[in-house]
Amino acid sequence: MAPDAASTAPASEALDRIKSIVGDKGWSAAPDDQAPLLTDWRGHFSGQCALLVRPASTEETAQVMTVCAEYGIAVVPQGGNTSMCAAATPQPHGHEILLNMGRMNAIRDVDPLNYTVTVEAGCILQDIQAASAEADRLFPLSLGAEGSCQIGGNLSTNAGGVNVLRYGNARDLVLGLEVVLPSGQVWNGLRRLRKDNTGYDLKHLFVGSEGTLGVITAAVLKLFPLPKDVQTCFAAVRDLDAVIELLARAREASGDAVSSFEMIGRFGIDLAIKHISGITDPLQERNDLYALIEFSGARADSGMAGNMEAFLETAFEDGLVLDATIAQSDAQRGNFWKIREGITEAQAVEGGSIKHDIAVPVSRVPDLVRTATQAVVDFMPGIRPCCFGHVGDGNLHFNFSQPPEMEKKAFLEHWHDVNRIVHDIVVEMGGSISAEHGIGQLKRDELHHYKPDLDLDLMRRIKAAIDPKGLMNPGKML
Ligand code: FAD
Ligand code: MLT
Ligand code: ZN
Repeated sequence: MAPDAASTAPASEALDRIKSIVGDKGWSAAPDDQAPLLTDWRGHFSGQCALLVRPASTEETAQVMTVCAEYGIAVVPQGGNTSMCAAATPQPHGHEILLNMGRMNAIRDVDPLNYTVTVEAGCILQDIQAASAEADRLFPLSLGAEGSCQIGGNLSTNAGGVNVLRYGNARDLVLGLEVVLPSGQVWNGLRRLRKDNTGYDLKHLFVGSEGTLGVITAAVLKLFPLPKDVQTCFAAVRDLDAVIELLARAREASGDAVSSFEMIGRFGIDLAIKHISGITDPLQERNDLYALIEFSGARADSGMAGNMEAFLETAFEDGLVLDATIAQSDAQRGNFWKIREGITEAQAVEGGSIKHDIAVPVSRVPDLVRTATQAVVDFMPGIRPCCFGHVGDGNLHFNFSQPPEMEKKAFLEHWHDVNRIVHDIVVEMGGSISAEHGIGQLKRDELHHYKPDLDLDLMRRIKAAIDPKGLMNPGKML
């Protein structure tokens, strides 16, 4: 077990050295600057830091980490602070450095021939998508927080999102990484190769490690042809079994060109319409269950319109789809996506929510949703299921909103019990208790409850090998 690096406050001479490394623009002790970065996105965890540090380069990051290693100062790397599990929120004792990567936001190179983009860790995801599109290329990672999350955070959480079905998650999209180690050494793995079997693939240790092994400072990412033929439909679906049947059929009907397949329950749509401005209900009749399905072809003449129409026609005939509309403009498509991506924010406004970011094999989704919904509703009558998400990956945001008449605090006291009910069922079905959001502080105890001892032991040994002093993001994940 690594020692607790954060047990004492950092020496002032160490903080002075860090300040001089990063210069006036690179640090702040002002409460107003720090405050928004000290609480997690969901507002459940708050902490303090000894200093907010914003390095402007890999060299500065390395020098800061060298000082931290010398004095035994713990470091919390932070990107856009959109973590769903408080992974970037420092602990309350205030002895850690909060290392916010936002100033390292250069796009170093777009290489359309190699289909790669090389970026610094603090680049906002949306800016990488835009720079790639300018070169007629697609960077396919896409999620609701893309206007504020950073690629360093995306890689450190192995983010998923709405295009995983077609392009994979963050891990699948990275070719190379540059990482500052807890010792202050810079590991230069910034290669642009698609093949490299020269030993352990070290970059994958850092992807999904939630800042517990090092600071990612730059990455080489894979690009794809920018789709020129995108067809998006919003469909009212008969039931859960029909959703899964439709997914299988969509892959065939599109020529395996399904880029998104999201499921949305009626409650999520009602919340988005109620709390997010500028959304209209795409279909006239209310239904319990919907699917947002997108087919993407690289060429303008890929024939996706015909594929989508034929797919929906057969689905109507067979009673799987009850009603559907295909977006006829960017505005309509935008409305569909605004509903889907607005649910997270809308659910936060609606009151207390208890969330589960779970995955099971796609074919088990109907069974999971029915069994777990019933179990939770039996436990707390009046609780409001808000189930939606990336069903194409078997990954659901199996969330619950508080009963309207209940106090938020009283509801959240049942958090652990509700988690246990759902997670027991998920694990019994061979699933995951964190499909894409990671562990952070929120799910640390759940991880330790469900993960086999040998898995945890191997994780601890890797941690001890790379971060023997336990300086990196203590209290998260392990
Ligand atoms: P942060 O929250 O700042 O940090 C996350 C973790 O990464 C922390 O452990 C932190 O220490 C570490 N970290 C950050 N930067 C670095 C770095 N440079 N080096 C080392 N460690 C670092 N997630 C999904 O996977 N799919 C979704 O569909 C999705 N949708 C979301 C929608 C909304 C509205 C919101 C608020 C969040 C959503 N998320 C989703 C969760 C979150 O956006 C992602 O996990 C995102 O990848 C986090 O990026 P970030 O820059 O905000 O990281
Ligand atoms: C999403 O896909 O919108 C987020 O990952 C979700 C959430 O749990 O709210
Ligand atoms: Zn998600």
